[in-house]
This record gives sequence, C-alpha cells and structure tokens, in this order.
Amino acid sequence: MEHHRENQVPHVLIFPFPAQGHINSMLPLAKLLSLAGFHVTFLNSDHNQHRLLGNADLAAWAARWHGFRSRSISDGLRPDYPRVADNLMPLFDSLKANTKPILRDMLVSDRKLGSEYPVTCIIGDGIMSFVIDVAEEVGLPVLSFRTISACSLWCYFRIPKLVEAGELPFGDDADMDRAIKGVLGMESFLRRRDLPHFCRAKEVTDPGLQLVWSETLKTTRSSALVLNTFEDLEPQILSHIRAHWPTTYTIGPLHALLQSRATDSADSTDSSSLWKEDRTCMKWLNGQPHGSVLYISFGSYTVVTRPKLLEFWHGLVNSQTRFLWVIRPDLVDGGGDVGQVPEELAGATKERGFIVEWAPQEEVLAHPAVGGFLTHSGWNSTLESMFAGVPMICWPYFADQQINSRYVSEVWRLGLDMKDKCDRETVEKMVRELMEERRGEFMKSAEEMADLAKKSIEKGGSTYTNLEKLIQDIRAMCF
Ligand code: UDX
Repeated sequence: MEHHRENQVPHVLIFPFPAQGHINSMLPLAKLLSLAGFHVTFLNSDHNQHRLLGNADLAAWAARWHGFRSRSISDGLRPDYPRVADNLMPLFDSLKANTKPILRDMLVSDRKLGSEYPVTCIIGDGIMSFVIDVAEEVGLPVLSFRTISACSLWCYFRIPKLVEAGELPFGDDADMDRAIKGVLGMESFLRRRDLPHFCRAKEVTDPGLQLVWSETLKTTRSSALVLNTFEDLEPQILSHIRAHWPTTYTIGPLHALLQSRATDSADSTDSSSLWKEDRTCMKWLNGQPHGSVLYISFGSYTVVTRPKLLEFWHGLVNSQTRFLWVIRPDLVDGGGDVGQVPEELAGATKERGFIVEWAPQEEVLAHPAVGGFLTHSGWNSTLESMFAGVPMICWPYFADQQINSRYVSEVWRLGLDMKDKCDRETVEKMVRELMEERRGEFMKSAEEMADLAKKSIEKGGSTYTNLEKLIQDIRAMCF
C-alpha cells in the first residue's frame, strides 16, 4: 500500500486570476512543481492564452517542463473587452458566473473520462474564492495563492475591524494624512492614503470594497495559504497572518527561486508576457554608464491620463537623468496613443531616453546600467526590484500598491513614496533624490535586502525549505 502511494504522482491544477501580474507570480510555482515531478495544469483564460501564444512557445514549455501543460477556459467576456484596472469588476462577475460552472464541468468530465492523471489538488488564486467552492463540490483539496504582499493581505483582512471602529470608509475628499490605528502591526506609520485604494470609497457597500473584503475572508476556508514573499521581509505581519491561516507557505521571491532551480538559463527566462517584449532596450542599456538609468514601468493594468503622463515626462526630462520607459499601448486612459509630444520632450528623450511598449523587466532590473525604478508598486515589480537591489520611487495606482509603497519607503527604506502626486516638480525632485542626493543611503539598504532575499532561496533558507514542505504536504493531501 505504502509502495503504491509513493508511486502516485500528484496532478495540481493552478488557476491564476487572468492578468499578467497574477500569471507572473503563479507560473513559476507551476514550473517548480513540475520540476518536483508533479503533473501540473496551468489554467489561463482563452483570451490570455491566445495572447501568450503570440509571444511564447507553449509547446516548447511542455517539452522542457516535464509534466507541465497549459489549458484555457473562457472568462466569459468578449475578446475586445478592455481588461485594464478600471474595468475589472465585470471580469470578476463574469468569472464567477461563466467560468465557475465550466471549471466544475471540466474537473467532473476529466474524472468521468477516466483520465490517466486526474487532477488531485487545486491551487487557486485567492482573489477568486469560487475556485474553493468548486474544489469543495468535487471533493478536491484546495490551497489559496495570494499574489500580493503579506502586509497588503493583512490590511485587507482587517477591513471589517476598520469598519467596526469607524475608520472606514472615508471617501476620497477626506483628510488623507489622518492616522489609521486598526491594522495591528502598522499603527505607527499607516495613514488613510496608504490603505488599498478601494478604502477611499464613500460607502461601505462599495462593490470594490465588498469584493476584497469577502474574497479575503473566504480564503480562510482553504487548506493552506501560499504567499510570494519571504520570512525576513515581513516577519511580524506573517505572525499575525498565521493566527488566521495557520498553514502559510512563504515561497518568494518566486521568479528568483525558479531561476535558481532551472538547469538551463533559457528555462528561467522563458517569457510569459502578454505583450511582445522589445529587446532593443537591452542593447541601449549596454551603452549607458553604470547605475545611471532610471527604469519606469507602471505594470500591466495601470492607466494614466495624458496630462499626468506629460507631467511625468517633464519631470523626468528636467531631472536630466537617463531613462528607459515602458509605455504600454493601452497605458493612456481612455485608449488612444500618447499623441503629439512637445518638441523639448521629444528632443531630450532622443538624447538620453528610450521608450518601449513592453520590456523584459527582470533582465532590465538586473542590468548594471539601471540605478533606480519608478514603479506603480505592483507586488511582482517590487519583489523583482528588491531582488535586483534597485531602489524605487513609488507611484501606486490601486489595490495593494498603496500599502506596498508605504512599506518600501517607511519600513524597508528602499526608496521614496510619491503617492497621489505626479506634478513635474515632485517628479524631478524625487528622481534627483533617488539617483543622486540620497543614492548611497538607498543603495545600502537595497543591497542588504537583496542579500536577505538571496539567502532565503538558498538551500536551508526559509523560502527553499518552505517550498520543500509545500511539495511534501501536497503529496500527502493528494493520496
Ligand atoms: C497586479 C498588482 O498590481 C500586483 O500587486 C498583484 O500582485 C498582481 O496584479 P500588475 O499591476 O501588473 O499586477 O503589477 P506587477 O505585480 O508588478 O506585475 C507586472 C509584471 O509584468 C511583472 O512581473 C513585470 O516583470 C512584468 N513586466 C512589466 C514586464 O515583463 N515588462 C514590462 O514592460 C512591464
């Protein structure tokens, strides 16, 4: 009997919320589990699968990552629906209404058809609690993966307490610098403006606030929580989290953990981009002095109005710093391109800037010419910057990003928080501060943090050990 169990191979279905940031954190785990000898199915939306196929050779992945395959499922929205930050509620609704029953049918029919390797465990994105419902209905163990930081998750979890204490909601015209006391462990530095953006709602019935509140509480029903963070980064907050999710695996930074395990460097740098990476920027970086370039990217969802974009641009140009800027084709709010760029900006950009629609970000951050990152504080970007030892200027846009940026500036001391401002004077001032005036101070803490992150993924480090434990525990859950 024991012998039989040992020979059985788990089949894990990994289902991220269909967005770049969620794919980028959950895909490395899928590959790591396949390296551990598991069968792994990575479930994309049809829409994203189609985009990925344009940039990645998924058949080659399956050949390289033994036991790995990707499948896709409808997200229920029409192909041309704009899947950017301000339009996400319909995507959540549609996933629950349309994708949930398809997922259930997929799992049931796989079993009925006597598939050689039926799914034995699900790791669902914790922002889609319907995956837990489906797992319970079909009788499979389920773990929840949250793609955000532990500090953000903890803030989300405390929303009911904040409402109870009358600290929430406050509306976006309130005094944003008022202290927030109801998030244990953050009393000394948290302000209203550092709470997730949906806390700025006027009413507690706000759909965004309600969604995050209910999805977060529902994840406590899953067997375990998986977080893309590491123990030394958020120790106190993790102890608060473990009081509610006793089995929490911290296995980040996952992109780096995968890199350290992949035998061939090509395996770890496989692009999982939904946009085509423009690699010409790497050649441009090769020609720039050490630590001289500010890299700017606002991730995959953020949209920026044209006037704000121009303020950023003026600030950058006035700072005289060299810069590499990702301007996604759908970055400008309301669609459309950047439009006519004032001559003085175009000229200066030609001289000391480079613009791409999408960059190979991990490689960019690891390039010696890059000395700073102006980021929207998405969790993947934050971890990637931390691992590369690159200090940040944070301009958070929504959700978890407001808390991440506060931690970057006040707790981890890895840079500056430009939150809620982007006038040209502030941009210029902060760029100069990061790249010149306080460079030594930020580089020192960035290097120390990068060291801690590296230690966590080495043999005996917390991340390394927690992944081993996760692998063992999944095996035990499956059979
Ligand atoms: C969002 C949330 O902001 C994030 O906090 C959450 O964890 C997942 O969903 P997103 O806004 O896209 O994600 O930001 P981020 O988490 O930083 O992910 C963006 C990813 O795209 C990063 O892995 C980054 O390396 C990649 N990227 C970005 C590129 O590869 N090229 C680019 O040009 C820009």
